[in-house]
Amino acid sequence: MFLFNKPKTRLTDLIPDGYVDIHSHLLPGIDDGAKDEEDSDRLITTLMDYGFGQFITTPHILTGVWNNTAEGIRTKEKITINHQKENNINVPFRAAAEYLIDDTFASLFKSEQLLTLKDNYVLVEMSYLNPPMQLFEVLFELQLEGYKPILAHPERYVFYYNNLEAYKKLKKAGCLFQINLLSVTGYYGKQVLDISKMLLEEGMIDYSGSDVHHTRHAESLKNTVLLKKYSNLEKVLNNNSRFKL
Ligand SMILES: [Fe+2]
Repeated sequence: MFLFNKPKTRLTDLIPDGYVDIHSHLLPGIDDGAKDEEDSDRLITTLMDYGFGQFITTPHILTGVWNNTAEGIRTKEKITINHQKENNINVPFRAAAEYLIDDTFASLFKSEQLLTLKDNYVLVEMSYLNPPMQLFEVLFELQLEGYKPILAHPERYVFYYNNLEAYKKLKKAGCLFQINLLSVTGYYGKQVLDISKMLLEEGMIDYSGSDVHHTRHAESLKNTVLLKKYSNLEKVLNNNSRFKL
């Protein structure tokens, strides 16, 4: 008997035309993402070739490492959009931020307006090493201020491996979940892939993002999707149209 391999599905085959990416690091020179304008242009045009239609890019605000401010990001956003126009890169593009939940975050959102993806949706992340102290208090206070937290790449917090209850608790605390596209290709390893499968199968993922920082990320979006069925991922990809500019 011959065993035929199922044709491989690449991630780029599943990306809907006009896909709205809500997580990336494409503003040049302000975090560990695009190094300069040329690098930024190259990443954007590569993603556009895959069908990406809009970008809400999200530079890190990470005290002590990437001390970006809302004002600094706005300024860089304007410069970048002007540069794109001059170079005939025509794509809806704006900037928000990816905020690290640390011990400075609460004082920040109590004292100034956060950069949101759209409306009151704000992208937050945690350390990959351990959950932040006071995580649930911070999430509660953030929502009291009127924000809706979207947790970036929940599947990458491997301290929650095999702990569906921990994810349920986060959802119950008001977090929406944004999966990284590359997670379903095994790019970040087996544990991240396993958590991704679990969260997708449980219907717990709300949105998706590329989290592209550099060329290797962009190129790896052509890798094979390691899921048995794609329907939940396709749904999640389409959900991003909620953030259309
Ligand atoms: Fe990110």
